Amino acid sequence: MKITSLGYLRVESPDAKEWATFGPEVLGMAVSEDPLGRPGSVRLTNDDRPGRLVVTEGRQNRLQCTGWEVASADDLAEAVEELERAGISVQRATDEQRGAACVRDLVSFTDPAGFTHELFYGQLVVPGSFKPGRAMSGFVTGGQGLGHIVLVVPDLVESLDFYTKVLGFKISDEIDMAGNRLVFFHVNPRHHTLAIMGIPGMRGLHHLMLQVGDVDDVGIAHDLCVDRKIPLAMTLGRHTNDRMLSFYVRSPGGFEIEYGWGAQTVDDEDQWVVTHMQSASIWGHRPGEAPAPACLEPVPAGAGGLTTAGPVDGKVG
Ligand SMILES: [Fe+2]
Repeated sequence: MKITSLGYLRVESPDAKEWATFGPEVLGMAVSEDPLGRPGSVRLTNDDRPGRLVVTEGRQNRLQCTGWEVASADDLAEAVEELERAGISVQRATDEQRGAACVRDLVSFTDPAGFTHELFYGQLVVPGSFKPGRAMSGFVTGGQGLGHIVLVVPDLVESLDFYTKVLGFKISDEIDMAGNRLVFFHVNPRHHTLAIMGIPGMRGLHHLMLQVGDVDDVGIAHDLCVDRKIPLAMTLGRHTNDRMLSFYVRSPGGFEIEYGWGAQTVDDEDQWVVTHMQSASIWGHRPGEAPAPACLEPVPAGAGGLTTAGPVDGKVG
């Protein structure tokens, strides 16, 4: 399967409305119009593709859907065949779903952890439309997509198998941290577009990373969080694996935003060597004052294998 980037995310939160200020004023994202004119969601983007992050008002903090890009209609058709060969049930989209997602076509399926994924091609681009919500240099997107996400999965080995063997993600590296194994995957030059960590009985979105174009953008966002007394989840630091300089802030959706700059890339897949590390950070990334991530949900018995709830206090790279 030829997934090329993380295209969009949809999340649900009781505090969705807070994203209308947090997104533009703190993170510098731009507000996108709803293509179908529906109320109840805050749509944001970090480039010329509208609606890359959609936060919809709902009862709980929950990752609704992860949107993965493929390059063409042929690649989408091929991906559907591969999923069905692997025994995965694939749902075709309605015109309304295509319109809402601003794509030419999409299909959806559920992974072994219970996450809903969409595969799409033909995302809407409005060249020159991105106006950051506050003064900043902009975000690193393009071929690297929206950013990266870290998911909590109930059974790491089962999800690792699915993401590599069915979805075709390439392992970048691994980090052993406080008894947890984190596995990082790339689908384009971004060092990792997805990482997973296992917590038995739980699944959810730990964080979304947004990469900015200038180190001063990180400093200004950090100042804004301090000035507005928005508690940090992790202080400034530099990661061991992608070398990103970043801090983590708890978002109104319960998940964290990693706001970073300066990550290294996977420029030549053939030359890439998988390594593992024993810590997530070279310096910094000390625990902040924010409460633990809260975009997590228990996995019902029978889904995702394991059902025993574990600690939900992970600080993740
Ligand atoms: Fe991260």
